[in-house]
Amino acid sequence: MVLQAIRYAPGSLQILNQLKLPHQEEYDEIKTAEDGWHAIKDMRTRGAPAIAIVAALSLAVEIQTTALSPNAEEVAAFIIEKLNYLVTSRPTAVNLADAARKLTKVVELVARPASNSGAAVSKAYCDAAAQMLIDDVADNQGIGKYGAEWIVKHSQGGKVSVVTHCNTGSLATAGYGTALGVIRSLHATNALKRAFCTETRPYNQGSRLTAFELVHDNIPATLITDSMASALLRLKGPSERISAIVVGADRVAANGDTANKIGTYQLAITAKYHGVKFLVAAPRTTIDLGTKSGADIVIEERPGKEMTMIKGPRFDGVDLDLSQAETISIAAQGIDVWNPAFDVTPAELIDGIITEVGVVEKDANGVFDLTLAMEAHS
Ligand code: MRU
Repeated sequence: MVLQAIRYAPGSLQILNQLKLPHQEEYDEIKTAEDGWHAIKDMRTRGAPAIAIVAALSLAVEIQTTALSPNAEEVAAFIIEKLNYLVTSRPTAVNLADAARKLTKVVELVARPASNSGAAVSKAYCDAAAQMLIDDVADNQGIGKYGAEWIVKHSQGGKVSVVTHCNTGSLATAGYGTALGVIRSLHATNALKRAFCTETRPYNQGSRLTAFELVHDNIPATLITDSMASALLRLKGPSERISAIVVGADRVAANGDTANKIGTYQLAITAKYHGVKFLVAAPRTTIDLGTKSGADIVIEERPGKEMTMIKGPRFDGVDLDLSQAETISIAAQGIDVWNPAFDVTPAELIDGIITEVGVVEKDANGVFDLTLAMEAHS
């Protein structure tokens, strides 16, 4: 069975509640833009592309199930206001703002001719939102193919082992995944020896979600804590060598600086030290030429309790009791907490940015030129 985080049909949107994974697979009904906003804010759906698509489709479902004005301009104003609201759910991933900008353009264009109706604007919006779901899967398959080929080409022969961080798979996208798409593609072409996924503290997207996807797809994989990455990269035997670290992105600035899940930056530093390739896998919807460098990226800070508390089913040494989920504290009461959800990896530590149109490498001056990859992407 294919893992599906987002189930959409006109008038109906369901999201796999990622707070309950890996213990329970439960879908939540999303009926309005407000439902979408909360699902994103509460992390029931997460990952840069998935956030954008769920936001866009939550509004599509609201439009499809609400009696709206027959006036095109009024419908356009309604949609644009809701899009602006959806963008406030989480700040770092650019995909949501990018989707809102494109959808705003669509509705403005259709609302302009006086002869067009409110229904025409609604239809244009819903069609464009649904297309985003389709396009994202195709983009991820392209990323998977180009990334896998690049890694194999730059490896020392034989099957490759790679490290990944956070969750970038079917659960974080419309399907297949970005960095995890590269791993899927390596596996599908029989080029993967082993994938290592980090636990990804504090939210554990690696151990809860990526590990879940890897087990689901029968991909040879090993879980490590974030603090084990350097020790792993130090192993140099032919059977243990790591060929690349491949991660996703929440926003790639014009100079290649990349915001991604907290812990990515330290992985890039250790990759450089150990001579291991470090790759960012991201669709062009994640590249933001309007942001000059990483210094201009707003980093979301999340509640301290995401670090100090954990929630899970009770384990009696034999069985997990799924009905007995409980939250327990794993930190001393009263300690101050700093919980940035993302960090920025400087472009100088990145060997390549894998997109759906190919892998962008630095030029002779050590600079990423992302404008070419972004041509024909508006
Ligand atoms: O806080 P999250 O879980 O939304 O963070 C997700 C990540 O950082 C992913 O690596 C990124 O969004 C890329 S998902 C294809």
